[in-house]
Amino acid sequence: MSALSELCQEIALCQQCEVLAKNRTRVVPGDGSEDADIMFIGEAPGWHEDQQGRPFVGPAGLFLEQLLASINLKRGQVYISNVIKCRPVGNRDPLPSEIHNCRKWLDRQIELIRPKIIVTLGRYSMALFFPGKSISKIHGTAQKRDNIIYYAMYHPAAALHQQSLRRAIEEDMLKIPSLLAQAESMTEVKQSPQQLNMFEL
Ligand code: URA
Repeated sequence: MSALSELCQEIALCQQCEVLAKNRTRVVPGDGSEDADIMFIGEAPGWHEDQQGRPFVGPAGLFLEQLLASINLKRGQVYISNVIKCRPVGNRDPLPSEIHNCRKWLDRQIELIRPKIIVTLGRYSMALFFPGKSISKIHGTAQKRDNIIYYAMYHPAAALHQQSLRRAIEEDMLKIPSLLAQAESMTEVKQSPQQLNMFEL
């Protein structure tokens, strides 16, 4: 079994957040290709994901698949994960303690996959990698740190029903192939994440 599959099995046994562990149907560790160049990180599993144990399989997932198709990718060619791996009851926002507890799993997934690009979907995911930034300002922009390009996008669930966000997320997705093509040559940003200037595409 691969190291990533073993990690997902370990995640599936996690009991650290008592309330989440008690109320979940399934843990949703993440899925896709271990060799993925692109890793998408959403917020938290919703009802459909909790039922199936897979990320982005509800309406937001369908939209994400359409967005991927717009750049000729299928979900099996990328890796899809979330900030927290268990569904918060009633789809409430993740708590800071839950985000903190779950961070180690995400970090280990990133270490094993070593994607060229990490795409953050929505505010919670963005906040992990672009602390203090506002999504309306930085969506569609990228930074390279430690050989990984971080790229912020709106959450597909938000963009699904709001026309202006929908256009933005569609346009931002279309920039990913050129980001990937520039991955090797893009300059690293050396400052702390708080001080970084965003790389405008
Ligand atoms: N929204 C998310 O952020 N993640 C999922 O897996 C599904 C919906």
